[in-house]
Amino acid sequence: MGRYDLKALQSDLRSELKNGLSKDSVERVKELMSQYKSSPKDWEGKELWSDEKYTRTLLDKGNGLYNLMILCWNRNQESPIHNHPNSHCFMKTLKGEVFEELYKNPDVTSCGCKMEKIADRVYKLNDVAHITDEDGLHRVGNKSHVDGAVTLHLYSPPFSTCRKYDDDTSKYTEVPMRFDQDFSDQFSFI
Ligand code: SIN
Repeated sequence: MGRYDLKALQSDLRSELKNGLSKDSVERVKELMSQYKSSPKDWEGKELWSDEKYTRTLLDKGNGLYNLMILCWNRNQESPIHNHPNSHCFMKTLKGEVFEELYKNPDVTSCGCKMEKIADRVYKLNDVAHITDEDGLHRVGNKSHVDGAVTLHLYSPPFSTCRKYDDDTSKYTEVPMRFDQDFSDQFSFI
């Protein structure tokens, strides 16, 4: 039997999520993402590195039921604190190591108070994480001064905007989710 590569994972995710994300499929998606062992040749030519910001590359639109993407985090790059509106976020480390700061979802966004951090986590190569807005909000990034990091993200259902929170005031602004590259038309379901 051949290696369980990224294409095989993409196919299994398509099957698992053909009717959208159910309660049972949350565990199954985590299992599938854990079963896949990262190999750089799987995403060769799909990495995009910028000195300005981390980049987002779409791999699969999941028939409108989810988005699967690769994020490339250059040295010291990080996301703002943000939510995942009515969605599940699954994240797997494909290269390097990423950190996650988990924050309490502010009940009152006009409080003018600092965001409250509730956890600090580190995800090493092949680790899989999962978060919804019920767990909290998060910031993800790469603390390394030397190496880039690559992560695989699945959002189900997909969303086109999210809330970006100010660390000091807890105020949010609605921001669009943009892709820097789109390879979704290259994926054919086996
Ligand atoms: C993003 O998708 O741009 C941020 C990373 C995340 O939500 O985990």
